[in-house]
Amino acid sequence: MKRWSPAIVAAGLLFGCSGGDERDDTTPPASPSLVIVDETAPASAAFSISASIPAAAAIDTLGISNAGHPIVVAEDRVYELVAGALEWRPLFVDEGAASLEDITVVAPRRAGGTWIAAGGDLFVLDGLYVLATPLMLDAGVIHAVVDVPTGALAGLWLATEGGLYRRTDDSLERWTIPGVTSVVTDLAIDPTGTFGLAVADGTFVTLEVEGTEVLTDRDAVDLGEVRAVAASDGAVWAAGSKGLLRFAQFDAKPYRHYPLASEGDLVAVATDPVTGTVWVRNATQLLEVDGPTIRAYPMASSTVPRIVVDTLGHVFVADGETLVRSGDMPSESATSFERDVVPWIQTNCAQCHSNQTQDFEDYAVFAEIAEGALSRVRRGDMPRCTGGVLCSPEQRLTAEQYAVLEQWLRDGKAE
Ligand code: HEC
Repeated sequence: MKRWSPAIVAAGLLFGCSGGDERDDTTPPASPSLVIVDETAPASAAFSISASIPAAAAIDTLGISNAGHPIVVAEDRVYELVAGALEWRPLFVDEGAASLEDITVVAPRRAGGTWIAAGGDLFVLDGLYVLATPLMLDAGVIHAVVDVPTGALAGLWLATEGGLYRRTDDSLERWTIPGVTSVVTDLAIDPTGTFGLAVADGTFVTLEVEGTEVLTDRDAVDLGEVRAVAASDGAVWAAGSKGLLRFAQFDAKPYRHYPLASEGDLVAVATDPVTGTVWVRNATQLLEVDGPTIRAYPMASSTVPRIVVDTLGHVFVADGETLVRSGDMPSESATSFERDVVPWIQTNCAQCHSNQTQDFEDYAVFAEIAEGALSRVRRGDMPRCTGGVLCSPEQRLTAEQYAVLEQWLRDGKAE
């Protein structure tokens, strides 16, 4: 493994640049830490298209907002999917503001809304308008934007033509990866901010925090030409010409390889924010990877190699001027906040979260933070035990005990 080195930058100027300070390659042999999953062909299934939503022009790219709404870009315009239709979100024009041309990235903004990268500038979609935001950086085309709320890797990561940057409240750092001279073209970091995967030179590079150091590993698994990465709770994923890789730094076997051999090059990967199910696509299929089970759905090829999954579990892909949505709509007998979620909050959370500043039993308060709450419950961070300390593993809620929260998110957070 090798060490990643950040160098502090201010307003685009390098203050210091630590060289490729390499240590001995201590990478363990790949085989004992690798699991190969299901080399047989996936089961095929029929894809249920539940809506074809027309866009104003050919779709150029897709992404998702922090609240889980699909965002569509067509002809330099940004649209948000609201109640089954695409609504245009115009650029709020300020004097001297950059123009919204050549949009490359649409990514969730943890403080709310969506990051939009266009022509080397950064914008925010918050509410009904897109606003320019000062980047203090002129580093060319932005290939990836990853907003990490907590952990050792917290910050706003920007993979640009001019290098990989991390912006935090008080610094701007330029990161170098040992042995990597090309640009980082994609990046994914797990939501706890402890590990990630970058794509450079068409291969993946891990980001692993150990104490105060960030170490990297390369080529632990031959994934061929790597095209895209994505994060789910507890793991990061890479899609390449030789299959799908799951990397989880703290698992006994951190690498899991799904060769998906007969299925052709994978070009996109996305994860379901509620169940963690992973979706990948190749030229002719959409594949659903749910633990060891893999299902394949025939699908026409698209020029937009992107998949978006919202909190309802709907999967969106672009097909020319159409946004195609799969999956069933929530049923009428769906869960409700008052009937199903409030009693669960009262049992598990209210003793600490019913104060005047933040009352979880208030629909408006809880609906806003529900996805983050599920993520904390899943990784055992919440509920806390007496005194606000982390509970021991035996005291954590089991998947069954928080199923109601998952189902309510799935059903569309009904009041
Ligand atoms: C024994 C006290 C305790 C219990 C019970 C508890 N929490 Fe917390 N919670 C805390 C503390 C302390 C913090 C602040 C620490 C932090 O943010 O890491 C917090 C913070 C949070 C936050 C972040 C707040 C925000 O505005 O983003 C969420 C979300 C949360 N808890 C969810 C839950 C959920 C869901 C439950 C019930 C399943 C729960 N908590 C039960 C003590 C508790």
